[in-house]
Amino acid sequence: MFSKLKLITGNANRPLAEEVARFAGIPLGDIDLFKFSNDESFVKINDNVRGADVFVIQPTCYPVNDSLMDLLIIIDALKRASAQRINCVIPYYGYARSDKKDQPRVPITAKLVADLITTAGADRVITVDLHADQIQGFFTIPVDHLFSTPIFTRYFKSNLENEDIVVVSPDSGGAARARTLAKRLNCSLAIGDKRRSGNNDQTELLNIIGDVAGKTAILFDDIIDTGGSLIKVAKALETQGASKIYAACVHGVLSGSACKNIENSPIEKLFITNTIPLTGDKKLSTKIVQLSIAEMLAIAIKKIHIEESISILFR
Ligand code: R5P
Repeated sequence: MFSKLKLITGNANRPLAEEVARFAGIPLGDIDLFKFSNDESFVKINDNVRGADVFVIQPTCYPVNDSLMDLLIIIDALKRASAQRINCVIPYYGYARSDKKDQPRVPITAKLVADLITTAGADRVITVDLHADQIQGFFTIPVDHLFSTPIFTRYFKSNLENEDIVVVSPDSGGAARARTLAKRLNCSLAIGDKRRSGNNDQTELLNIIGDVAGKTAILFDDIIDTGGSLIKVAKALETQGASKIYAACVHGVLSGSACKNIENSPIEKLFITNTIPLTGDKKLSTKIVQLSIAEMLAIAIKKIHIEESISILFR
């Protein structure tokens, strides 16, 4: 059993960390995190963490390399300050899409990041909707892999009650994820038959497999980055007669002109979670609706602290 539970956050997603702290009823620990004028990062933990069970909330989102480096130095500082257990809560795992050697002479950065986090001194990782399940196996420490599907399910069940819904996976790779949501919503499933011809938005959609005509389509994906993949599928859904098109993505990376592209697309609403904060102009988007994972994380943290099962979160 661990005695003291401590919550700490880096700078990557302070609003989420504050919400988790409120749900958990635990204040956020006092840390100073800043950069020297030479761009090197520095952290100082002002609370005593000796013998504590510390949970560090830090998604490795934009600015990805700073967020990752900050996480690593926080872990190092905690280890040197004699924390008993260091749990990294990484709701969005950056570099997750670099998960296999699918071209000659390319890195598997998701594995390298797992090694860095482990070597720094983490004892456990808690994460949400990994891009690829195998990333869990890149770690030699326990990884609690949580899913946001119950959160999306609850929202759609109470807000789209009387609609004829079809959940659409933008590609065959995401079919299992979309099938889980379709099963929970008790509705049909369609799949975009996408052929990727390059990186980022250089993709080509050929067909939609499944019946979407006259239905409310919910495009379901783990990540929306430039929006390129989803918008192409949304256009195909429009052509095939879907009556309304929504998109639901766990991680709103929303890089470049993603928000503008979504505004000008047939997607009526984009539902994302708050694994990544909405910053700057993105907050102004009238199409984006953010659902919170804070309560789920707070429950996970409290259960892990008292070494209770977290299976209830998957139901
Ligand atoms: C790809 O395998 C992912 O699941 C997402 O579909 C993709 O990363 C989204 O990127 P973008 O929004 O730039 O098309």
